[in-house]
Amino acid sequence: MDLFEYQARDLFEKHGVPVLGGIVATTPEAARAAAEELLPADGGVVVVKAQVKVGGRGKAGGVKVARSADEAQTHAEAILGMDIKGHTVQRVMIAEGADIAEEYYFSVLLDRAERRYLAMASVEGGVEIEVLAEERPEALARIAVDPSEGIDDAKAAEIVSAAGFADDVAAGVTEAIQKLWTVYAESDATLVEVNPLVRTASGDVVALDGKVTLDDNAEFRHPEWAELAEVAETDPLEAKAAESGLNYVKLDGEVGIIGNGAGLVMSTLDVVAYSGEQHGGVKPANFLDIGGGASAAVMAAGLDVILGDEQVKSVFVNVFGGITACDEVANGIVHALEILGDAATKPLVVRLDGNAVEEGRRILEEAGHPLVTVMDTMDGAADKAAELAAS
Ligand SMILES: Nc1ncnc2c1ncn2[C@@H]1O[C@H](COP(=O)(O)OP(=O)(O)OP(=O)(O)O)[C@@H](O)[C@H]1O
Ligand SMILES: [Mg+2]
Repeated sequence: MDLFEYQARDLFEKHGVPVLGGIVATTPEAARAAAEELLPADGGVVVVKAQVKVGGRGKAGGVKVARSADEAQTHAEAILGMDIKGHTVQRVMIAEGADIAEEYYFSVLLDRAERRYLAMASVEGGVEIEVLAEERPEALARIAVDPSEGIDDAKAAEIVSAAGFADDVAAGVTEAIQKLWTVYAESDATLVEVNPLVRTASGDVVALDGKVTLDDNAEFRHPEWAELAEVAETDPLEAKAAESGLNYVKLDGEVGIIGNGAGLVMSTLDVVAYSGEQHGGVKPANFLDIGGGASAAVMAAGLDVILGDEQVKSVFVNVFGGITACDEVANGIVHALEILGDAATKPLVVRLDGNAVEEGRRILEEAGHPLVTVMDTMDGAADKAAELAAS
């Protein structure tokens, strides 16, 4: 489970990692009230920060400085509802403003291949850290951490020296790193990342942003996680799909996808992306696995979710008949289109194969629905769906 920044902030605070005040808000009015509480009497600023579980919020316009409660409210109005890489912003955090002198980077994560942990640190943190890691990897120190030893005094000193922290911040950074290690260990995390860790003008070391991934395998010994999981980051379409018990993930393309079995759906995404290159670069709009029993009700629920996505221009239904044979699936599609009636507005390309395929195709041909095209092969169907999405 990934945490929101504000949840990471709270977790850091509990473990004594230096953080600034932060209050989460879901409305511009609440953001205003939070700013009134956090703004210092003698001027100063707060920062309005989009709470989405994706990186690059600052660059997307989701992190804004406010000099007054009025301004915080205006920023919150703009940021709430904003789309950042397919994530709709439903909450902002109003954070106390820091007077930043320098931005650093620190993370500790699980290194599965090496069966240990890996700590990374840099004195050049901030929003360009990915560029730095790519172009000047030597500026990002990487230190292996033995799981049985963790980040003790010696390891912290090794990290601080490898990254080249100046003497005047070394003590502060060492302390922050060790506290962050206790967050990692005690929370059963697989990632704790702070970017930026900053030195303020007054010389304090503070974690200004936090990204934490908890190991779901350890959930049984963390009853307190239930509360964290409750605050889901729900895309409206994903929420609707979840209500129908569908395994749906919204993506950023134009071809809606329905299939049975996660493996088949994954390969359907690949062939559609591939075919799409021949048709102006159209892409899959979603992942949707309707599972083994593709009944009419499940098919209708799936189509309903996909047709609710404004970006979708065509739909590719790719089903391999197994225990639920193709004739049942075909009947499911026909009934689903009846259930949806006028709500079904976009062309459907159907490819059936497997158990009772001939019967299934016959049912669809006989129904003769004007929106439905039946194709024999997966590649042919992907190409047709991409073509329809591009036209
Ligand atoms: N409380 C704060 N006070 C002052 N400046 C801040 C504060 N929080 C963030 N900033 C500034 O905004 C920049 C971006 O903020 P932050 O790191 O939280 O978002 P981001 O890195 O764009 O998001 P993500 O980490 O999700 O990619 C920081 O590098 C820092 O310069
Ligand atoms: Mg950041």
